[in-house]
Amino acid sequence: MRARDTDWEGVRLHVITGKGGTGKTTVAAALALALASAGGKVLLMEVEGRQGIAQLFDTPPLPYRERKVAVAPGTPGRAGGDVYALAADPESALIEYLEMMYSLRHAGRTLTRLGVVDFATTIAPGLRDVLLTGKAATVARRKVGGRYQYDAVVMDAPPTGRIGRFLNVATEVSGLAKMGPIRGHADSVQHVIRSPQTAVHFVTMLEEMPVQETLDGIAELTGLSEDGPGPGGGFQLGGIVINMVRPAELTGKQLADAVAGRLDRHDIALGLKAAGIEDSVGPSGAGLAASLLSELADHAREVLGQHEQRQRLAAVSLPRYELPMIADGMDLAGLYRLAAALQDQGAA
Ligand SMILES: Nc1ncnc2c1ncn2[C@@H]1O[C@H](COP(=O)(O)OP(=O)(O)OP(=O)(O)O)[C@@H](O)[C@H]1O
Ligand SMILES: [Mg+2]
Repeated sequence: MRARDTDWEGVRLHVITGKGGTGKTTVAAALALALASAGGKVLLMEVEGRQGIAQLFDTPPLPYRERKVAVAPGTPGRAGGDVYALAADPESALIEYLEMMYSLRHAGRTLTRLGVVDFATTIAPGLRDVLLTGKAATVARRKVGGRYQYDAVVMDAPPTGRIGRFLNVATEVSGLAKMGPIRGHADSVQHVIRSPQTAVHFVTMLEEMPVQETLDGIAELTGLSEDGPGPGGGFQLGGIVINMVRPAELTGKQLADAVAGRLDRHDIALGLKAAGIEDSVGPSGAGLAASLLSELADHAREVLGQHEQRQRLAAVSLPRYELPMIADGMDLAGLYRLAAALQDQGAA
């Protein structure tokens, strides 16, 4: 039993999406650490063939096998649990699936040799996706000795532009398998993906494009998208993780004054003098105070723009979490800080 309630009690599969480069892999890893810090085992899984997890944890490339990559920070009086990682690729998932369904280890190898796997992965993207989501759903529900093997599975999923298709496995394979085991598999995978055991979280930064993609992705997964037939909704949306947030140094009034040019250059020059710095004239002829003022105005505009993006996100009624910008490069210590921030805010 956990010591306290968290926002995602009962969720076994956490799917992490968001615009490219906003921190999906990083946030997935931090969430896995946060979930494991109550003890137990959490699996962090990637599906894009990028080996992003291995890079992040500074380990050799991951095989198609679950392997321990980190020990989570504990909570007071309790040791942290373990984070395992898995790099899932559709070829291995197909062979494993065939072995499982038909004990066709040999056939799996033959299929690979004949290039049928290429058919499955390049010609039929829907099948490719169902193999990956299927793997996640299977591991999330796998039991050993009557108990779940993992307390949670966190998936570093495709970006927002592809997430709807990726998760909408049952419909995507329906064209190629109307009945039979693949159809049955797709249906049972779909059942898990659309159940309360799965939550889809969005990672964003406080910038126009990532926020727009987040709002579009949310609309798509709730079935409210305007552009064409979407996956039809029915997914449980998780939280919005606002990543790489810088601490606010200035008050609202100071920001507004800076943008409106209401700050006095002489005040700044006096401040500089008090700090023992001369308001010297730079090569451009502008004084130091003057160039500081213009930098301040740029900074203030950026911060006010971030307020605007935060408000757009607040219009969606999903829990929001804010993660700080880790200034000196991402390493295990940085991941621990992000994991702690997620825990403090109730995400895990
Ligand atoms: N909170 C943070 N503070 C500082 N740097 C961060 C933070 N989160 C992510 N980064 C850095 O930003 C970069 C992008 O992060 P990451 O690889 O996790 O994004 P991604 O969404 O998975 O990208 P891709 O779409 O390429 O898979 C990395 O260099 C990562 O170390
Ligand atoms: Mg990534």
